[in-house]
Amino acid sequence: MKFRVLYCAAFALALAACGNEGAPGGDPSPISGLTYYKDIKPLVDQKCVSCHREGGIAPFSFTDYAVVHKLRGAIKSAVENRTMPPWLAADGCNDYVGDISLSQAQIEKISAWVDDDAPAGDAADAAEPIPSDDTGSKTSGLSRVDMALTLPVKYTPKKSPDDYRCFIIDWPRKEDAFISGYHIVPDNDAIVHHVLLFAVDETAVAQAQALDDADPGPGYTCFGGPGVKFEAAGSGGQLLGGWAPGSPGGDFPAGTGIRVKAGSKLIVQMHYNTLELRDDIADQSTIELKIDDSVDKEAIAQFFTNPYWVRGGMPIRAGEKDASHAFEWDLTTLVGGRTINVYTANLHMHRLGTSARLAVTHPNGQKTCLLDIPRWDFDWQRSYALKKPVTMKPGDKLSIRCNWDNSAANQPVIDGKRAEPRKVNWGEGTADEMCLGSVLLTYGD
Ligand code: HEC
Repeated sequence: MKFRVLYCAAFALALAACGNEGAPGGDPSPISGLTYYKDIKPLVDQKCVSCHREGGIAPFSFTDYAVVHKLRGAIKSAVENRTMPPWLAADGCNDYVGDISLSQAQIEKISAWVDDDAPAGDAADAAEPIPSDDTGSKTSGLSRVDMALTLPVKYTPKKSPDDYRCFIIDWPRKEDAFISGYHIVPDNDAIVHHVLLFAVDETAVAQAQALDDADPGPGYTCFGGPGVKFEAAGSGGQLLGGWAPGSPGGDFPAGTGIRVKAGSKLIVQMHYNTLELRDDIADQSTIELKIDDSVDKEAIAQFFTNPYWVRGGMPIRAGEKDASHAFEWDLTTLVGGRTINVYTANLHMHRLGTSARLAVTHPNGQKTCLLDIPRWDFDWQRSYALKKPVTMKPGDKLSIRCNWDNSAANQPVIDGKRAEPRKVNWGEGTADEMCLGSVLLTYGD
């Protein structure tokens, strides 16, 4: 490698361009001077290795130069296309806690290095490892653990490659209590792709139990949620939080907590992916909770959607390439005109989703973006915690928009055959769709 650099330097004046082997048209070689140890390893350590390591969720370990070098072409295209690191929120919408995305400058740095044939450089140049923004799965962002609840059994996924399984967990408290933070600890993080945590109150526990009873084996199959009907007003149950690779969990904003009513149960939805078949694919993950008997301000994990869609009013025509539904509503009217502070934003669709956006529309027409997902990926859903809460005053509307691709080219492949497009509407199934926002909020004065 050094050889080529020297060669090029020495003959730079004489040659019109230093050819990149095989580059069509003899494009000049960029020769950026970037090396793995000096420039790239610190980035890879910080942004990739929490997943791309031995025993991690991702298929290959980037702790080794030889692996990074071998996969340089795939790495370049993954970072340029922004499929890696998996972070769906667009730049320029809002600022989030624990952002694992690469900046445009960092992407260009990786690309330039790959274009130079990804030289190693001198290992002595290796910078001190930068602590990762992404604390992976084992390190907790929680300040205190008051309760640790483990899945009732060790479960071996039965469906391949994806098994969506809901487990009901008893809630041991006899009085109302407040969850003021959580940390989800995947047991087998080579197969745990994604976790959602719900609390369902007495009105919905029976529904969940019936689903569990009807399904052989531990837990029950569920998709995208716990499969029970949530009432729009927040009764029935609520989303407490979730885990996707890269979510450290942590405390809710100081003094806040989500009420879990006496008589509730927790439902944990596990998404297992066993594509990378390994010997040990059993899992029994744990949820760590911080719990307070009372809080200064009750936080509410509020679902947001058009109630009309939920009743079948969200048609997506068979073959439609860019279907879209949008809805906005002044949430403050539900709480007597009090202000609302929004702390986290989350969007949820199923497999046909292409893009979605959650924003606040102000009376003067201006918008405050909460979460903009230009390229939806069902496998990488997570909740995005805003660095600064967004306040909604009476007259401000929460707005949601989702887009789907229901064309022939975007249909799932079942048993090696691409399915025919079909009419789609709101529903719980894999083949149904949703357009659901959720925000963690508190009420102001
Ligand atoms: C949060 C976990 C996570 C992080 C962080 C992450 N990856 Fe990945 N990566 C995965 C998983 C899981 C796969 C396997 C394919 C999949 O599930 O999408 C993957 C696959 C890939 C692939 C194979 C091709 C592809 O696009 O699927 C490349 C290349 C890659 N990652 C590069 C990177 C680079 C470079 C970084 C850091 C800049 C990075 N990844 C950060 C989880 C991660």
